[in-house]
Amino acid sequence: MKLATRLKAVKPSATFAMAAEATALRKQGRDVVDLSVGEPDFDTPAHVKAAAREALERGLTKYTPIGGTDELKDAIVGKLARDNRLEYGRAEVMASCGGKHSLYTAFQALFDPGDEVLLPAPYWVSYPDMLVLAGAVPRVVDTSAERGFRMSVEQLEAAISPRTVALILNSPSNPTGAAYGDDELRTIGELAARRGLIVVTDDIYERLTARPARHVGALVPALRPNLVVINSVSKSYAMTGWRIGYTAAPADLIRAMTVLQGQTTTNPTSIAQAAAAAALAGPQACVDEMAREFTARLALMVRGLRAIPGVRTAEPQGAFYVFPDVSAFFGRRGSDGPLASATDLAMYLLRHAGVASVPGESFGAPAHVRLSYAAARPVLEEGLARIGRALAALS
Ligand SMILES: Cc1ncc(COP(=O)(O)O)c(C=O)c1O
Repeated sequence: MKLATRLKAVKPSATFAMAAEATALRKQGRDVVDLSVGEPDFDTPAHVKAAAREALERGLTKYTPIGGTDELKDAIVGKLARDNRLEYGRAEVMASCGGKHSLYTAFQALFDPGDEVLLPAPYWVSYPDMLVLAGAVPRVVDTSAERGFRMSVEQLEAAISPRTVALILNSPSNPTGAAYGDDELRTIGELAARRGLIVVTDDIYERLTARPARHVGALVPALRPNLVVINSVSKSYAMTGWRIGYTAAPADLIRAMTVLQGQTTTNPTSIAQAAAAAALAGPQACVDEMAREFTARLALMVRGLRAIPGVRTAEPQGAFYVFPDVSAFFGRRGSDGPLASATDLAMYLLRHAGVASVPGESFGAPAHVRLSYAAARPVLEEGLARIGRALAALS
């Protein structure tokens, strides 16, 4: 069948591709330690599930307003004030079908063909493809492990061209776990405000860190007319399957996004909205508990990886990923031949050691692999032991 030309530039998500390969091996009876997944291994908190059950019982099974119920919008407004010190009104927030859908809808509503968008690398796999689908041109700003994978204000300044319209900030980051401190965010935000850039903050991992920073929008109020805040209940509340993300932005962008969403998905699922409202407005101790466990696992992973000769890793500050440099193994031979790339190494680890990871190429960092620590500690220990043995077996 004839397919649309615009899809030629879009790749399938690498993270889902690796998870699919791991599932296929499992179906063949292989014991796979899956460190490729980007979702918490915890269950959705009980009070959130109860809110969904109650919504069903109350018959909340119909269309809702496109951008979400007033209950959910108020919960989003309350959350932004409580956690981020950002004051928004109902007309400046909307819910979509997951953070990914919020980002997609925002990009479609914001960018014109040829608009350049600055994207610090390593970046989350979906940004470039979503930008390209919106006609925008991703301009990658490379960061280094030595600088903790954080973009400096000088790098940002040097990357701005007359065509630059926006900057994407994802802190803590997928895939590196790097997080900006208040001072860095303030200088980056002030430069962006001076140069009139739109700043899209993807705050999806903001709660999963031991050292939370303030929001760039609170640090630099002058950014507000050009600030687009994207967040989601997926990671903070272990709700990946519920598909609720949200956007806070000036009302004209929210109106435009609502028009687009009204012609595509309409409202996110009514029952999931009730659950998300309970997550955002209800007790928050569950988030802190998960964040504490992730911090303990982070230490375990960094210690374990640094004990493997040849593996070098920066210390993440949040999210649930480590992003070691594995280039020392390129050129070595595995069971299926020489390893020339992170993809070869990830395939070797999967097939030889039964450990699923995600190769760094699709994050714009071909010397690295991403390992998720959203798995119980014994699973992580087993994964580390297998990786250590498999890398030691390379000739
Ligand atoms: C950086 C980042 N942003 C957005 C998303 C989208 O999350 P969701 O659509 O589940 O809310 C993800 C998911 O992995 C992510 O890692």
